[in-house]
Amino acid sequence: MSEIIAIASGKGGVGKSFLASCLAISLAALGEKILLVDADLGGANLHNFLGYKFPPTGLYNFLREKFKIDEIITKTDVGIDFIAGSGDVLGMAHITKAERQRFIDKVAEYDYKYVILDLGAGTSYNMVDLFNLAAKKIMAMNSEPTAIENAYGFLKVAAYRYIERFLAADSSFQDVSRRLRNKSVSYKGLDDVVQAVREVNPDKAVEIDEFANAYKIGITLNMVRFKKELNVFYGFETVVKKYLKIQVEKLGFIPFDNKVGEAVRLMQPFYYNNRSSAVAACIDDIRDALLKKL
Ligand SMILES: Nc1ncnc2c1ncn2[C@@H]1O[C@H](COP(=O)(O)OP(=O)(O)O)[C@@H](O)[C@H]1O
Ligand SMILES: [Mg+2]
Repeated sequence: MSEIIAIASGKGGVGKSFLASCLAISLAALGEKILLVDADLGGANLHNFLGYKFPPTGLYNFLREKFKIDEIITKTDVGIDFIAGSGDVLGMAHITKAERQRFIDKVAEYDYKYVILDLGAGTSYNMVDLFNLAAKKIMAMNSEPTAIENAYGFLKVAAYRYIERFLAADSSFQDVSRRLRNKSVSYKGLDDVVQAVREVNPDKAVEIDEFANAYKIGITLNMVRFKKELNVFYGFETVVKKYLKIQVEKLGFIPFDNKVGEAVRLMQPFYYNNRSSAVAACIDDIRDALLKKL
């Protein structure tokens, strides 16, 4: 069974796809069998980071046409297997839960050590649920206030949904579940959720606390130009731990480097071609932290 690694962000453009492509090649360099999937359903462009101008046969062909998984897996020359997305197909942003599950179940049958999902930005059901089902969850961000705020928003939605699924089987928590789903009058933090659950059933409140405690994410900071930006990391970790009560591991940071954009323009996989760069060294650190801490 493959282990799923999901890379999410609240805001787009923080470097998820870049990180996903580098991390995949970096893990493959350890000798692991890796499948990288473009799961940014509405805005697929991961192929650009692997040197393809246009996406090869991919997810769309499996979900909406009669292609088998084998037929949509591209063997790249950078040591990983790849499933491309198809961002310009109307309707692909809204695949159904059944379609999503069919894909995940099929992929799990293969003997990949890790399946890396490059998710799209934002809190759509598909992105949140794919994030939650991953064994290793990475939240990518940069130090812009909007990226931080959206990262927190994504985590809150994901953690609340995780709890809501846990409560779903018990109809006495209908009201709590409804409030967890409702973004505008939602609970401020996990303490409020636990309190609401306690009012219905005190035993369950203890379970929720333990359940939330087992929820663990890794965070990465990209496009770092100044050392003081790293404070963002500490601040984010503190706030998430305080309000959402989930476990947070800082996996590492990636410096800003103009060569990253250049490589995309030249259709070259950055990590593969710049193994001795500072950026690649930081990717390796993130990889090692991911394997050790998550
Ligand atoms: N460390 C970095 N230094 C410079 N540019 C970067 C870096 N990381 C990503 N970029 C650039 O930022 C843009 C957005 O990255 P991308 O991975 O597509 O973000 P996302 O997948 O989160 O939307 C790309 O053009 C990419 O080349
Ligand atoms: Mg992307």
